Amino acid sequence: MRDVQRVAIVDPSDATREPLRNLLLGVDSIWLEAECARYEFFFDVIHQSMPDVAIVCIDSDQNKAIQLIAQLCSEFPDLPVLAVSGKNDGQAILQALRSGAREFLTAPVQLEELLTALNRLKRIVGNGESHHSNGTAPMQSMVYAVLGSRGGVGCTSIAVNLGAVLAQDPSRQVALIDLDLALGDADVALDLMGDHTLADVAVNIDRIDMNFLRRSLCKHSTGLFLLPHPVQLEDCQLIREEHLQRLVNLLRASYSHLILDLSKSFSPLDITALHVSDMILLVAQLDLSSLRNVVRMQLALAADEVLGRKVQIVLNRVGSDNDISLKKAEEIIGKPIYYQIVNDPRAMIESRNAGVPLCQHAPRSKANLSIVGLADTLTGKKDTQGGARKKTGFFTTLLGR
Ligand SMILES: Nc1ncnc2c1ncn2[C@@H]1O[C@H](COP(=O)(O)OP(=O)(O)O)[C@@H](O)[C@H]1O
Ligand SMILES: [Mg+2]
Repeated sequence: MRDVQRVAIVDPSDATREPLRNLLLGVDSIWLEAECARYEFFFDVIHQSMPDVAIVCIDSDQNKAIQLIAQLCSEFPDLPVLAVSGKNDGQAILQALRSGAREFLTAPVQLEELLTALNRLKRIVGNGESHHSNGTAPMQSMVYAVLGSRGGVGCTSIAVNLGAVLAQDPSRQVALIDLDLALGDADVALDLMGDHTLADVAVNIDRIDMNFLRRSLCKHSTGLFLLPHPVQLEDCQLIREEHLQRLVNLLRASYSHLILDLSKSFSPLDITALHVSDMILLVAQLDLSSLRNVVRMQLALAADEVLGRKVQIVLNRVGSDNDISLKKAEEIIGKPIYYQIVNDPRAMIESRNAGVPLCQHAPRSKANLSIVGLADTLTGKKDTQGGARKKTGFFTTLLGR
């Protein structure tokens, strides 16, 4: 019995519980320990049966189901909970994951997908690791939107190189989505050509499962995954806001860090990207047009309280000639600068032309060290750029100030 996983399910709806039960009964390695039709009773059922995995179908009453997931996860921290939903409700999926569900499956559940998910959970349980450190299904994911304040301000350079640096740590799963649909060039910067683009994934988003989704992204040698922009310009219009919403919510279940490289057009898709992100890195340079746009964009974003709070200013190419002073820039922008990236044209251009990210092409360059510092700041290894400067003098040297 060692390799058998004992599973308990709860789903008030017969119409979805029965097919799932039949699926589970058909698998030798699964023992259906308990089947429950009421969310209210499931806690006791788990308490008595102590299964290896709990499956909670959330569609009958999302609030109750999510409460139940949170309760199960806090009372039985070693019990992996798998959430199932057939509704295309990204928020609900996200809530389930945030409440502690380790995996999410779309109903009707496909056998292959179910087995893969259960296998992953088995490995975690077998290792006796907490799911916070398992590295296969991160519960907490961070989504960064990289938004430019004018053309050529450095969004793609930051998105690609930040993604590559983050991905070099094998405990992270990092993906970059190129949302500059018409003119994006993250694929060029990484010299990657995938079988699938954002358009393929978006139009099929209701039909694909997480495994297919994961396979659709192409992997760079740094470990970074990329979902490139569509090849054909006419395919750009296929990608709608709800596609992106669902895509990001699904990817959150598999990736610890998602980076969205936005277009400069403030399109509805860009706005959606801002809404689904946890942090908006608004990239600026120390020139008037960029700073003026930062002010305009901040005003627009602040109209939505949630969006306004997510914005952090990243100054790029600091230290180039003819810069407006930092002090003046902060005055214009009206808030402190979150991070400064040094001007390092040679490393940047050479790495871009080679199609190799800085961390591989010029790991000791000032530009790469700047990006590493940004990654450390974002992941909490350093409090702030200022904090790091105080301790080590590192950025002072880096910025030549
Ligand atoms: N920190 C930097 N130092 C020097 N050059 C940079 C830096 N960041 C970006 N660049 C250069 O600026 C140009 C535009 O950058 P890119 O990332 O494509 O901007 P965007 O995606 O915002 O249009 C590129 O040629 C890149 O090499
Ligand atoms: Mg770009």
